[in-house]
Amino acid sequence: MQKSRVFSGIQPTGNIHLGNYLGAVKNWVENQEKYENIFCVVNSHAITIPQNPSILREKTYDLCAMLLACGINPKKSILFIQSKIQEHTSLAWLLTCITPMGDLSRMTQFKDKSAKNPKQILAGLFNYPNLMSADILLYQSNLVPVGEDQKQHIELARDTAIRFNRDFGETFVVPEPLILKEGARIMGLDDPTKKMSKSSSDKPNHSIALIDTPETIIKKFKKATTDSEGIIAFDKNRAGVYNLLNIYQCFTKQKVEEIEAEFAGQGYGKLKERVAEAVIEGLRPIRQAYEKLSSEKDYLHRILQEGESRAREIAATTYKETKEKIGLI
Ligand code: AMP
Ligand code: TRP
Repeated sequence: MQKSRVFSGIQPTGNIHLGNYLGAVKNWVENQEKYENIFCVVNSHAITIPQNPSILREKTYDLCAMLLACGINPKKSILFIQSKIQEHTSLAWLLTCITPMGDLSRMTQFKDKSAKNPKQILAGLFNYPNLMSADILLYQSNLVPVGEDQKQHIELARDTAIRFNRDFGETFVVPEPLILKEGARIMGLDDPTKKMSKSSSDKPNHSIALIDTPETIIKKFKKATTDSEGIIAFDKNRAGVYNLLNIYQCFTKQKVEEIEAEFAGQGYGKLKERVAEAVIEGLRPIRQAYEKLSSEKDYLHRILQEGESRAREIAATTYKETKEKIGLI
């Protein structure tokens, strides 16, 4: 039986953090055998918010190295950089021409990001979901493993695929989101009512970066916001403790009851210490692999080159078909 095809992307902005890892990348890595995989560093998405060009360039390669360090295996997965394949932006334009403005203006990520910088809302930010639909639809992807925050964008990609197929004939596979319960929404350690995000990484105790040292990780968890109840339980109404337990569960893979039993009668100090230890142990091999890869630039470029040429073949076929169906010469 043919394997389902998975596609997912991650932006090379800020530092990749625990939310990205637990919500997305860890699942990509763990499911590599089960699916046919395509992973993309989406640098063209990153420029929907102004970026410093030389930092963007550097971060793009750093993130590719980090994904390999996390366990993306080039023998099982295609890894490439979005801007290397022109068909992404070309297809995005075609999709833009069949997408109502109203659908785009309902996107919560657009509303959130534009509220953060109301004086400079770029048209690219508004059109961002069409570029994401293009990423997914170009590869005829069946499944898109992401964190909870991307669900709405994938629903839009589905609507777009269905609309195109209806109006121009069967062309695109209609993709489905793949969102795991644990890890789908990791919250900020400083404010557990807000999702952990790269754009808040200027706040020192907000997120855990995958490259943080053990000392930094311990320090950040010690400062994590909890509450005054003193009971350690998976209670969604107590966001701080819930978030810590959720992170612990992602790394230890224990059941909820086992974890609650383990911490019964313990204080928050102990909880924070144990969560920090689990995270440090979980991230240790990644940091080590990342350091090694940082000195193997030729290897990295070779992997990306291979990924690019394999991806291009699929992307070019889909784009050609789409363009012809629309009547473009
Ligand atoms: P981004 O950093 O926006 O490119 O996100 C890359 C992937 O990480 C996407 O699949 C997101 O849904 C996921 N992600 C980002 N932040 C979180 C978070 N706080 N919790 C869980 N998943 C997240
Ligand atoms: N928008 C996604 C995010 O911010 C990143 C992304 C771009 C993506 N293209 C994609 C994710 C295609 C999945 C599939 O997290």
